Amino acid sequence: MTSPKVRVDPVETLRWVGEVLEMIDQRVLPAQFVYVQCRSAKDVADAIRNMVVRGAPAIGCAAACGMALEAVRSASLSREDFNNAMKSAADLLLESRPTAVNLAWGVARMQQVMMRRPAAPDVTAREMLAEAHEVLAEDVRVNRTMGAHGAKLLQDGDRVLTHCNAGALAAAGHGTALGVVRSAIEAGKRLQIIAGETRPFLQGARLTAWEMVESGIPVTLITDGMSGHLMSRGEIDAVIVGADRVAANGDVANKIGTYMVAVLANRHSIPFYVACPTSTLDMALASGDLIPIEERHASEVTGYGEMRWAPEGISVRNPAFDITPASLVTALITEKGVVHAPNRERLAELMKR
Ligand code: MRU
Repeated sequence: MTSPKVRVDPVETLRWVGEVLEMIDQRVLPAQFVYVQCRSAKDVADAIRNMVVRGAPAIGCAAACGMALEAVRSASLSREDFNNAMKSAADLLLESRPTAVNLAWGVARMQQVMMRRPAAPDVTAREMLAEAHEVLAEDVRVNRTMGAHGAKLLQDGDRVLTHCNAGALAAAGHGTALGVVRSAIEAGKRLQIIAGETRPFLQGARLTAWEMVESGIPVTLITDGMSGHLMSRGEIDAVIVGADRVAANGDVANKIGTYMVAVLANRHSIPFYVACPTSTLDMALASGDLIPIEERHASEVTGYGEMRWAPEGISVRNPAFDITPASLVTALITEKGVVHAPNRERLAELMKR
């Protein structure tokens, strides 16, 4: 095995062009690489709901930017009208998707800027725009710190299974789970990634596969049902995934199918790692069963794009996330450090760091 040449941070998932927010349209990758432009909180809320942008940290960053866009649009209003516009923007963004807690984190972060000191709306709008820029830069720094912590857990030569896309496309850059992979490779470890395709939206087959190929990281694509077979044959050394929300007891909400992979990893004594920033921790929720699980449209299951394969009238379930109990998590990797065998006490201690 030779050490691959890794191209650092190859994608700008979200970028400011003047006072317009651009985001890579993740619905059409890898067939097309195009940016969608957002000029208001509504544009951003629509983009989050329609999966133009997805992945918990990216959603949080987009929501923060959406608040800034709306502030800039409302800068010439009276203070009262400005506050009302910002309240409507926050409500619109918060209802766009329910599971990733980073969304609420991004909105709250911008509301803190508004409340920091009383100022004319145009001054507050400038401050919010500056904060939105900082949120993007900070996300990449956080992911790099997380990557450095997590890289120590992966061994040279490891074959690493990941589910969904927790890469640069799911954040402002570098990625969470795939950020750990990138950091380990930058540190000289030779890794091979096994990407589960992640039905029904195909984040693994379309996005992780594209990101890894673009970065020159060896990747093998499998369908979701193949991971148990590969584990039973000793062909997977570690699993690493991201998270959309982690409850105070360490239970993890992540892309549908993650729980199955965690159970299989446990059955085969394979370490199961979760990498996420502390903005994904929801210490207000006692356990995973309280995390709201988004149920998406049946058409995602009955077909893909223009193609339909299931019979008309069929009953469908499409929960977009599942809960992996903390007992199946070998370690939680965050920017504040690694928590082995996460539980309530260890997460509370982490949040004090
Ligand atoms: O529906 P998605 O694509 O937004 O779901 C994304 C995931 O489940 C990711 O694994 C999670 O957000 C972590 S991304 C760093």
